[in-house]
Amino acid sequence: MASATVSRTRTMTSKQPFARRIVIAIVLLTVLVSGAFSLSIVAVVHFIEQRLISEEMHRELNGVLHEDLKNGRPPRLDAWTRFYASNLPEYAIPERYVGLDEGFTELVDNDQAVYAYAQEINGVRYVLVQDQDEFEAHERVLFDVVLAGFILTVLGAWALGRVMAGRVMAPVSRLAQQVRHRDQLLPTAPPLAPEYPDDEVGQLASAFDGTLGQLRHSLERERLFTSDVSHELRTPLMVIATSCELLQQAHLEPRQREQLQRIERASGEMRELVQTFLQLARGSVDEADFTATASLAQVAEQQSRHWAELMREKGLEYECIAEGPDDGRYSPTLLGTVMANLLRNALHYTNRGQVRLFLEAGGFRVEDSGAGIAQEQHESIFLPFVRGTLARGEGMGLGLSLVKRICTHQGWNITVHNLSPTGSCFRVRFTQRS
Ligand SMILES: Nc1ncnc2c1ncn2[C@@H]1O[C@H](COP(=O)(O)OP(=O)(O)OP(=O)(O)O)[C@@H](O)[C@H]1O
Ligand SMILES: [Mg+2]
Repeated sequence: MASATVSRTRTMTSKQPFARRIVIAIVLLTVLVSGAFSLSIVAVVHFIEQRLISEEMHRELNGVLHEDLKNGRPPRLDAWTRFYASNLPEYAIPERYVGLDEGFTELVDNDQAVYAYAQEINGVRYVLVQDQDEFEAHERVLFDVVLAGFILTVLGAWALGRVMAGRVMAPVSRLAQQVRHRDQLLPTAPPLAPEYPDDEVGQLASAFDGTLGQLRHSLERERLFTSDVSHELRTPLMVIATSCELLQQAHLEPRQREQLQRIERASGEMRELVQTFLQLARGSVDEADFTATASLAQVAEQQSRHWAELMREKGLEYECIAEGPDDGRYSPTLLGTVMANLLRNALHYTNRGQVRLFLEAGGFRVEDSGAGIAQEQHESIFLPFVRGTLARGEGMGLGLSLVKRICTHQGWNITVHNLSPTGSCFRVRFTQRS
């Protein structure tokens, strides 16, 4: 039990899906913004670089035409720039650059990438060609820097996101821990809200306070009610018991004495039943009050004596059949209550035919020839206040829920199935205790 709680706590704190979602949101946002920013830097730099190169080549071509060639000098160019002209055989334009458009062009071949600048003046075509390698190297450095910046920003956002998510979630986690661990239902438990600022978490804390307060009130009311009932019923039951004792001493006819004994027995059973119901209502069954003193056969006999007569009155056959020996000992009150409820239902929901109580080794079953219970209700009829489609009379739908609670408490197993051609069978196995 304790280890289950610990492992549940561990999974709850290690999962932190909300904190993780905050981190994911921050990282995604950063990827988007920083990615867009990096791409625009690359695009702008690329664009400006081309503009600058274009202007630079235009200037260089002008220099060659107006300063060098005009003065009969060869073009003064750097190592990676070449000059061609359509009217000068020594600078004949290679095939590759013949059909270039006017102005700046970027040419990319398999092995080489070049910038070309073409200009036509007075029917003569001039071309300036420049190797791109240097700019390529510049660009690569730029890309590397931008990529490194992008990765660092995303990593930074992830680290910052983790810290921030931890900070944001801390009060919520604290509140969850307090609600889970502190015994909030104790009347002395202090309210949670004053420990938090008046924000969303504070409002959550005061909502918890409100709900827990209501819960505490209803628990307190229920506790008072059960102790009042217990007190108030015990007194009249004592009066009946004492009166019976006094009457025993009087001179009575045998028939009257028999009636008196029945009253005495009934009041004793009632006292025990009141005790059972109150303990089950409180959820704390005191083992001392339910000592296992009776055998299955004894309880069955006592119940049969009561129910056989009522079955007969309704025109039903009743039989108690011992199928196997059972040497277990059970609390007559608890086993009697289970059996009585199953027999009462069998009587109530059977119009003709028979009701049978089978005593097995390690359990018993009640079979009737009523209409049976729809398959989809086989689980729900054991819930409190649930009545089947066949519900009739004044019942509250509590009988089987009480039976189920007693079985669960005792470690017994109860199942139901339909019989063919008609009828239902409720089976109780004393699996863990017998
Ligand atoms: N032997 C049975 N045959 C047919 N239906 C049954 C039988 N026993 C129980 N049921 C169905 O299961 C439902 C729940 O039974 P349960 O004993 O919990 O409540 P109830 O008999 O309606 O009322 P209460 O027992 O509180 O007086 C019943 O309403 C009925 O429809
Ligand atoms: Mg019932």
